[in-house]
Amino acid sequence: MSLSRRRFLTGAGGTAAALAIGAGCSTDSGPAGAAARPGSTTVPFEGEHQAGVTTATQQRLLFVAFDVLPGTQPADLSLLLQTWTTLARRLTQGQTAGNTAPAGGAPPDDNGEALGLGPNSLTMTFGFGRSLFVATDGTDRFGLAAKLPAALQDIPSFGSLDVLDPQRSNGDIGVQICCDDPQVAFHAVHHLARTSKGVLTARWSQLGFGPSSSTSTKQTTPRNLMGFKDGTNNLNGEDRAAMTEAVWVGASDGPAWMTGGTYLVARRIRILLEVWDRASLTDQQTTFGRKKLNGAPLSGSTEFDDLDLDNKDRDGVPTIPLTAHVRLAHPTTSGVKLLRRGYNYADGIDAVTGQLDSGLFFIAFQRNPATQFVELQQQLAHVDALNEYIKHTSSALFAVPPGVAADGWIGRSLFE
Ligand code: HEM
Repeated sequence: MSLSRRRFLTGAGGTAAALAIGAGCSTDSGPAGAAARPGSTTVPFEGEHQAGVTTATQQRLLFVAFDVLPGTQPADLSLLLQTWTTLARRLTQGQTAGNTAPAGGAPPDDNGEALGLGPNSLTMTFGFGRSLFVATDGTDRFGLAAKLPAALQDIPSFGSLDVLDPQRSNGDIGVQICCDDPQVAFHAVHHLARTSKGVLTARWSQLGFGPSSSTSTKQTTPRNLMGFKDGTNNLNGEDRAAMTEAVWVGASDGPAWMTGGTYLVARRIRILLEVWDRASLTDQQTTFGRKKLNGAPLSGSTEFDDLDLDNKDRDGVPTIPLTAHVRLAHPTTSGVKLLRRGYNYADGIDAVTGQLDSGLFFIAFQRNPATQFVELQQQLAHVDALNEYIKHTSSALFAVPPGVAADGWIGRSLFE
């Protein structure tokens, strides 16, 4: 155990109450009549499932993937996950990572960059990549190979749509951090990195600045960077039956340690805005099969009208084209349902082309990636009109274990 983690654990345990910067509360409504403090909203950390999946999308994303350093032992990993659980439990509930002002010349356990900001609905969602179980040459790195879920297979190539950067793809452990303040997200990742020193190295990270999908009936549908409302026909996190059917791993799915968990697929999808900006409004709308301004299907008039895939114009031409994104992605065509929870990203200017390097950091949660994301993406890869305007530049898949009880820790079901 590294020194910094040992100090972090003791600091966190002994002085929790004194260090709290905001008491945990499940909503941002304060005492009757009192104005809510900005940023004071918390999302419960403990539960049957990890937070950050069905949680209504927050405003910001910081996704980070780590690799385990050579020489690390399984016991180091389980200790780290316990440390991270303590950290996440505290940060998500508005507490500091540890002592901000230690006596005796020691560095503070918490660097202080989020002091006074509040938890801002922070969620930290942890997942394990296939490489944690087996190396590419088949080596059982940490004695976990026998527990590798059958569903945790490498995502296949989707042909010319994929221009994947391996350095920005996959990883042993992935953490999705979401909240409503970018500095709070940074604070979380900073302390994850700091407490994992000597055990993990950061592999890649991705910032997202606005949700590209709504995941709750209480939210207005946001817009993606192509200007379209995104999330209209998404699954809703409140729909427990849909979550059981499409998102949560059931006891019969196996392995047992994943019951109550889910699988997270992340795809960094570059949008070729320079091409999109030259498409007429009609072409843009037929690409998706929806109207740009109000989000209605081309077969309807308001956003939440059902897609009428049989609707035809006077010449017998389908109103929602056969190649339209929503026709192909709709469950009646594809047979697939998943929970989309992606974010818009903008990573400056592409040094080679001089164009904006921006798009959608697509995230989807599902019960089985092979029969959900991969199946759907294989269908889209061949015919989706959207393909003219996008390139997939990174790919990752993580097995997200179930949530934790009051005395539990993330990944306990895998390591014990
Ligand atoms: C840059 C890439 C993408 C963009 C800009 C995009 C945008 C959109 C938009 C605007 C809609 C219509 C609104 C809605 O119902 O949410 C939609 C629907 C949908 N998209 Fe995408 N999408 C992208 C990639 C993907 C990918 C990679 C998948 C899965 C493999 C996917 C799956 C879906 C599904 C399932 C629907 C709902 C279809 C329905 O039931 O009506 N999308 N997308």
